[in-house]
Amino acid sequence: MTRAAGRPLIVGSGIAGLYVALRCRDLGLRPTVLTKGRLEESNTRYAQGGIAAAIGSDDSPALHLADTVRAGAGLVNRAAARVLTQEAPARIADLVRLGVPFDTVEGRIALAREAAHSRDRLLHAGGDATGLSIEETLKRRVLEGGIDVRERRVLRSIRLGGKGGVQATFSDPAGRGVEVEEDRPLVLATGGAGSLFLQSSNPSVATGEGVAIAFRAGAEVGDLEFVQFHPTAFAREGAPRFLITEALRGEGAVLRNEAGERFMLGVHPDAELAPRDVVARAITGEIARSGQSHVYLDATRLGRDRLFARFPSVSNFLLTFDLDPSRDLVPVAPVAHYMIGGVVTDLEGRTTLRGLYAAGEVAATGVHGANRLGSNSLIEGLVFGERVARQLARPTPGAPAPAERLLRIAPVPGLGREGEPRLVEEIRTLLWEEVGIVRTGPELSRALARFEEIAREAEPTREGQLAGPTANAALTATLIARAALERKESRGAHYRSDHPRPLAAWRRHVHLRRRERAA
Ligand code: FUM
Repeated sequence: MTRAAGRPLIVGSGIAGLYVALRCRDLGLRPTVLTKGRLEESNTRYAQGGIAAAIGSDDSPALHLADTVRAGAGLVNRAAARVLTQEAPARIADLVRLGVPFDTVEGRIALAREAAHSRDRLLHAGGDATGLSIEETLKRRVLEGGIDVRERRVLRSIRLGGKGGVQATFSDPAGRGVEVEEDRPLVLATGGAGSLFLQSSNPSVATGEGVAIAFRAGAEVGDLEFVQFHPTAFAREGAPRFLITEALRGEGAVLRNEAGERFMLGVHPDAELAPRDVVARAITGEIARSGQSHVYLDATRLGRDRLFARFPSVSNFLLTFDLDPSRDLVPVAPVAHYMIGGVVTDLEGRTTLRGLYAAGEVAATGVHGANRLGSNSLIEGLVFGERVARQLARPTPGAPAPAERLLRIAPVPGLGREGEPRLVEEIRTLLWEEVGIVRTGPELSRALARFEEIAREAEPTREGQLAGPTANAALTATLIARAALERKESRGAHYRSDHPRPLAAWRRHVHLRRRERAA
């Protein structure tokens, strides 16, 4: 094994990044984790419902696979979904070994249900603090294990290295203190792009730059039109769009409109447990009809003790807004939640660029197809994270050993149109309004034209200049809008009112790759 291959860079510190780092260390490598904020700040932390794995006595990987394929609306990569569902129980055993305190009932791991799962198969921890428990456990293990961690390091660019790795440029969040890592394998675990949408359940770090940076470097990206909108986030003017977990509906909470009616009964046989896209669109329709900004989640039938024991994070959050979910209706509305597409990978997490890997939300493994089954994302990060780590640990005989080199460049070349929050806000508004839950061709074209215009202004032009948040946001938004415009049908999470049905001809993926510049 070459020295550089033994020293992978892992960018991002959610479940995928931290797990890959731990497994690399176990396999004898010397990983470095770089994260743009603090180590514990990631989307994983905010995951409430759970992590899916077929460990129940009435469950099996085959049933989990069938549910995953059904939810994915004809676009699931079966081989990837088979890997996911078969390897999930072993990865859960790893988390238990690492010390994740999953909730139990009478000594056995408790299992819950979410929409479109045919069995109870969601493990949870701290009630609805599943992501937080996993993130804190993995973080502790990474720090105890002495893994090299660098916080406040923003990935700015990658390009092919000469000796099998990639050259990666990082800086601090302000674009200063530029560092170039030469020829090391790099694992993108940068998470999703939810916060590029005006209304989102994601933390502000989820800005999708992994997709933009990989695309700029020549990697293939795909399935970006499939943005999953979560039906129920807290919807009160001025309050954060806090996720109100689907597991509440799994336990019996129902949705009501302004008139108090359970409108989902007339929409889908599974009512409130219909697939997420169906529920999100139904709520959007109710909101449009009523002129209100929300509908209501009614969890009163669950009772106070059960609510506060099983859903402490949600219940205590609501109390701070003087709402007691055992008595009060909770105003909810849909938000952008999960990026189904991303940087295209194979079953080992390899992207189309040599030396570049992707794991977690930034990766497009194909397991989710056109619509992700709830709670399949945390487990995806582990299952494919494990495969990435094993891949990295494989010997690569014959490759020359490159010198270890960390290059510091000064003076700072500066970021392209950095510090343009107005443009990023415009992108967020346009993505939400014109590339949102219900899309049309004219709106998508309009949004795309504006994203391309902003991207043209913001892309770095001078040699050595770094792409900043505006350029990355504009490029990611461009790719999402382009894919959504291209797909002239409705399927899974992608709904176009001008093409409202799925079409057999569209049972294929939209993959995008940068056109090479003419020499
Ligand atoms: O509702 C939820 O708890 C969301 C789960 C998920 O997105 O997987």
